[in-house]
Amino acid sequence: MKGIINKGIQEMVEARFGAEAWEEVKSLAGCEEPFFAIGQDYPDELTIALIKAASQVSGLPVETVQVEYGKFMVPHTLKKYYATYFQLAGSSPREFLLNMDRVHEQATRSITGAAPPKFDYEELPDGRLLMHYHSKRGLCPVLRGLILGVGLYFNQEVRVKETACMHRGDPRCTMEVTFP
Ligand code: HEM
Repeated sequence: MKGIINKGIQEMVEARFGAEAWEEVKSLAGCEEPFFAIGQDYPDELTIALIKAASQVSGLPVETVQVEYGKFMVPHTLKKYYATYFQLAGSSPREFLLNMDRVHEQATRSITGAAPPKFDYEELPDGRLLMHYHSKRGLCPVLRGLILGVGLYFNQEVRVKETACMHRGDPRCTMEVTFP
């Protein structure tokens, strides 16, 4: 996965648990990279190992680390490195989320072998937004955090409930998003 993903884990661990904790995470994960280049591709296994190590170092369950990481990413790491996309991707949480399929297609177009997540959407008459997530990576707890992070970025309340999940045998994960 692109370096931005690992960079986000680094920034989240440093911000929440300190620079020493990050050194511990790197060593537990067997990571010898001196830094992450945002646009370079790194093995998915490295990302998984970093998340697992962050769970061990922080004492939080893996799923909690994934959600917290997603929440941190949007208003911090992604906003900083992808400012142009933020200007173009919408002026409300709903609009921003509806643009995410297109943004991922564009942001990974120039990388050989990239496998961006795919989203398709259903907008229900009562205002709920269903976001269907297709990815071989199955990072739905991260996705839940990212959706909450979009709310944080816009300073608006966003709620999310996972109503279908690949890990429970469904063909894709579905996030039911509400904007109360
Ligand atoms: C403008 C903001 C964003 C940009 C530029 C961006 C870009 C990226 C990039 C480059 C990757 C790595 C893909 C790869 O290496 O194959 C990624 C992964 C991912 N992004 Fe974003 N992203 C943004 C915001 C979001 C938001 C708001 C969500 C969800 C609501 C999201 C969901 C995901 C997920 C779930 C992954 C993990 C990959 C997977 O599941 O297969 N992203 N993103």
